[in-house]
Amino acid sequence: MTLYKQHLDTITGIAETALARSGHDHLVIASGIEKIRFLDDSPYPFKANPQFKYWLPLCQHPNSWIAFTPGRKPLLVYFQPDDYWHVPPSAPQGEWTEHFDIRIIGDASEAAAHLPDPARSAIIGEADAAVGAVVPNNPAGLLAYLHYHRAYKTPYEMAQMRKAQAKAVRGHAAAEQAFRAGASEAQINAAFLAAAGHTDNDVPYNNIVALNENGATLHYQYKSFNKPAHHRSLLIDAGAEYNGYAADITRTHGNGFELYEQLIAAVDSEQQALCAQVRAGTDYRDLHLQTHLRLGGVLRDLGIVDMDPGSMLEKGVSSVFYPHGLGHPIGLQVHDVAGFSDENGSLIPRPEGHPYLRMTRTLESGMVVTIEPGLYFIPMLLADLKNRPEAKAVNWAKVEQLMPYGGVRIEDEVHCTDGDPENISRDAFAAL
Ligand code: GLY
Ligand code: MN
Ligand code: MN
Repeated sequence: MTLYKQHLDTITGIAETALARSGHDHLVIASGIEKIRFLDDSPYPFKANPQFKYWLPLCQHPNSWIAFTPGRKPLLVYFQPDDYWHVPPSAPQGEWTEHFDIRIIGDASEAAAHLPDPARSAIIGEADAAVGAVVPNNPAGLLAYLHYHRAYKTPYEMAQMRKAQAKAVRGHAAAEQAFRAGASEAQINAAFLAAAGHTDNDVPYNNIVALNENGATLHYQYKSFNKPAHHRSLLIDAGAEYNGYAADITRTHGNGFELYEQLIAAVDSEQQALCAQVRAGTDYRDLHLQTHLRLGGVLRDLGIVDMDPGSMLEKGVSSVFYPHGLGHPIGLQVHDVAGFSDENGSLIPRPEGHPYLRMTRTLESGMVVTIEPGLYFIPMLLADLKNRPEAKAVNWAKVEQLMPYGGVRIEDEVHCTDGDPENISRDAFAAL
């Protein structure tokens, strides 16, 4: 059996259980519509419903639908209009076509005639995808179940994710070269995209390309054309996509300043120690808390904060330098669904005082998570720390030296298996 067929069998089984639990006869999934800008005729980049691309490697197909009824071949309503303004989708091709009953439509409204009784259907999609009586109802319990199970990647999904990694690391290598050659953020981003095989519109998230102090803004959103006088540091958090599956990788590069190079090396070493703990049975929340202790140890060892790491965690000092979560599940979405809910959609709480953690589940075989510790010199958080009693433990001269470098983040994707973890990002870098 091929990986794709095996994947389809797995998700068909998940869908059958979800329908039995929710009491619906059919699962209907909209790919979504192309959205038009307000008072304009120009569309936003189309992003397919992730539950749609779970079934098929179709990411550029608005107005299409999947319908699944247990015991029957799944149905694909495939939108292929006559259009000479745009390139319409080509005729369905690929291995998946033999596993679907395919109906071609030329007008979006024709879909309703092919889809099962909406009154008996769980219909997954955004409200604006509705055609006739087929109006998305997104049953909460059914969605929670489907989302929860997306955390466990099939071998087919792992193959797509490894390919996304291969694209992303080519981009990262080109970006580092551009940084070393003195390029601007915009030029570094362009070098990344060209090497990864992407445009700005089809990367899975807006690349973060931050020179110097811009690295202190966690989701720095600009790409400046200015070439700074000095290229002190590059923090680049940039990904790629393959058949709808995302890569999300961060690397940080310095330019010789010893303390900052030591900081990068230390974060990298702690990051690898954390990646090695992506094992079945480990509570991701514990890994997140352990990260505070490890990064606290880095701050202490480099003489930046003179306090023991346990007290740094307890008093919220490590959170000043590491103010985000350790990572998140990843797959069809960069921040994949169900990072903090169980099969019924109930919340698995975050540790108190850690509002940005995106994953609270216990790791199990098949999950893929990011491991992305970081240390930053963020002016607004440091200004606040200065007014607290813990300020006296901080070597402010070193902090001032590091502020022009922004920060450090190192991020990989790690596959939890029955045995040793598989770091698909490092494997892809090693294969470059
Ligand atoms: N690129 C966003 C993140 O790392 O979560
Ligand atoms: Mn990232
Ligand atoms: Mn991430």
